[in-house]
Amino acid sequence: MFSSRLPHDPVANLLTRALRELRADDVPILDLTESNPTRVGLDYPERLFDELVRSSRGYAPASLGAWSARTAVAAHLETEAIDVAPDRIALTASTSEAYSILFKLLCDPGDEILVPQPSYPLFTHLTRLDGVIGVPYDLEHLGRWAIDPGRLARAVSSRTRAILVVTPNNPTGSYLSQLELEQVSELAAAHDLALIGDEVFRSYPASGAIAHQPSVLVGGAPLVFSLGGLSKSVGLPQMKLAWIAVGGRDAAMTSAMARLELVCDTYLSVATSVQGAVGGLFAGGRAVHEQIALRVRRNLDALQRGGADAPWARVLPVEGGWSAVVEVPATVSEEERVLDLLTRHHVLVHPGFFYDFPREAFLVCSLLPEPPVFDAALPHLFARD
Ligand SMILES: Cc1ncc(COP(=O)(O)O)c(C=O)c1O
Repeated sequence: MFSSRLPHDPVANLLTRALRELRADDVPILDLTESNPTRVGLDYPERLFDELVRSSRGYAPASLGAWSARTAVAAHLETEAIDVAPDRIALTASTSEAYSILFKLLCDPGDEILVPQPSYPLFTHLTRLDGVIGVPYDLEHLGRWAIDPGRLARAVSSRTRAILVVTPNNPTGSYLSQLELEQVSELAAAHDLALIGDEVFRSYPASGAIAHQPSVLVGGAPLVFSLGGLSKSVGLPQMKLAWIAVGGRDAAMTSAMARLELVCDTYLSVATSVQGAVGGLFAGGRAVHEQIALRVRRNLDALQRGGADAPWARVLPVEGGWSAVVEVPATVSEEERVLDLLTRHHVLVHPGFFYDFPREAFLVCSLLPEPPVFDAALPHLFARD
């Protein structure tokens, strides 16, 4: 009766089940998987949401989004050193929806998208739900997480339609370097593939300025899509507004925009209220972005100091984003280790295998939690076996 795009028997994993039991008993958890910015004690400006009410009265559907909202997104991107005209921007309700729209735009059922590994676990579902196949390409940890261009090229088949990159990547925190961007763009050009760049965390470099990180839009691929959204850029996931910024060669862009218009018009999923309020959300949200940037740097610093006192563990270098990876001895499996941390010490972290790391043992922590929670978890994370 059900689609084969869904798992046969969706069952909760052991970690989810253990967590459920502890929560049912009201046990306080030191949650280092919290990635929801609205739950980590940030101050949101008092009047931030006022405009939403005023802008909710009328309805003037526009497939790619209201012109004023697309202009506001273009102005925001300019502050991040990305130059893209409003007529090259399509609004979506989330980055996840942006992926779904792009898969519809680029792929027939059974076509392939090259997806980095380790990376964001939702790609498995996002590709399957749209009837496309995510073909993994490995990021290798050679001091930093890097793409092996030869292996990436070997993953291309006659069914490949796009290369997906996440910069900085979740959870490895690695930005695509200028050289990698050139190599990926050349490969895309050689095989007439689109380049999809998930840049939702781009404005959170661990050090230095954002302008130093190249956007996928400047890489020279024939057709490029850069994804971003309010959920990460100003810590407002509840607003449900994201965007696709389109770059590449003029003819390819024009064809893509016309087709995107049709796909987006079929759903018209972005609320009028948020489109009317987005200019103010960017302006007021700057203060939220600032707090998040400070929080992740502060927690990364605490993590690195904790790691320095625990030579049996290794905090891998983080270039940007909201997460960090700790390599721990593979004396027990990742699953045993995270279950032990949770059930004995009430510390919740994600095991590396959730993100398809190439081997064990890695623990993934969010850098968003409130400092008292984060710091209380560290001695357990770094405790010797
Ligand atoms: C790499 C990456 N892309 C996209 C998203 C989802 O963003 P949105 O809330 O806009 O769907 C996330 C969420 O954590 C993410 O880690």
